[in-house]
Amino acid sequence: MSSYYLQDERFLPKEEVRISPDDRGYYFGDGFYEVFRVYNGKLYEPEAHFARLARTSEGIRIPLPYGIEELHAKLKELIALNSLSEGTVYLQITRGSAPRAQPFPTPSRPFLHAYTKPLERPLAAMEAGIRAATVEDIRWLRCDYKTLNLLGNVLAKQQALDAGADEAILHRGGSVTECSASNVMIVKDGIIVTHPADNLILHGVTRAVVLRLARAAELPAEERPFTVEELREADEAFITGTTVEITPVVSVDGRTIGSGSAGPVTRRLQRDFAASIGQ
Ligand code: PDD
Repeated sequence: MSSYYLQDERFLPKEEVRISPDDRGYYFGDGFYEVFRVYNGKLYEPEAHFARLARTSEGIRIPLPYGIEELHAKLKELIALNSLSEGTVYLQITRGSAPRAQPFPTPSRPFLHAYTKPLERPLAAMEAGIRAATVEDIRWLRCDYKTLNLLGNVLAKQQALDAGADEAILHRGGSVTECSASNVMIVKDGIIVTHPADNLILHGVTRAVVLRLARAAELPAEERPFTVEELREADEAFITGTTVEITPVVSVDGRTIGSGSAGPVTRRLQRDFAASIGQ
């Protein structure tokens, strides 16, 4: 069965999707995106994803081709067309196509495309944990915009894989920011610590959910930068993200974190997260 894509306002079978070789996403990474989670056929935290989409749209001056409400309705329709129950929706908008030149094209016509992907919850990794490697964060200074310019993230991820790890924990001069495709939190003496939501990290939807769950569970949390040294000495560490949910980090650069398996705060948050999605 063919899967449907949303291209601008139209639904098309994948085989009929056409992308211009002059698309500025292709030339310059001149675009932005969102990855939404779908649980039980429904978009998870759609308002938070749309708010971030709107914020990036404004920040990088690519208008949404149509309003959020209409977009939300289209994504629901796409999920239904593809009979998606558990998975993700990938949505990308570029500044459109024009002969290669840096100035914004005038007129410019943003180009939108979206598709769905079936994906199960990462239960095995959530149980066993992952190994992380620290990597210098060489990205630009607007990591809060969810843009297509992901070369820094791609290189960091590959460096971590090459070192035998599963994910990269990025740091700027020893100050931990986030991961290649997730946010990171540590727990020390019962206190959860994570980098503040400023320009150096993506303001993760899952990060915000976890901080909300922590507050509800009366687990103290601090939003402040922490060092690679603090990460190494942490009692627990975990990453948060749309596809990874809350996944423990059991080692960093080959050194065991805490007990070497998911700690009590991580477990509690995982349980509360699962309950919040009705699992
Ligand atoms: N990435 N930080 C970075 C650099 C990310 O790319 C992501 C998500 C996150 C977590 O954000 P959220 O909780 O909203 O998913 C943090 C998506 C999944 C991706 O690029 O595939």
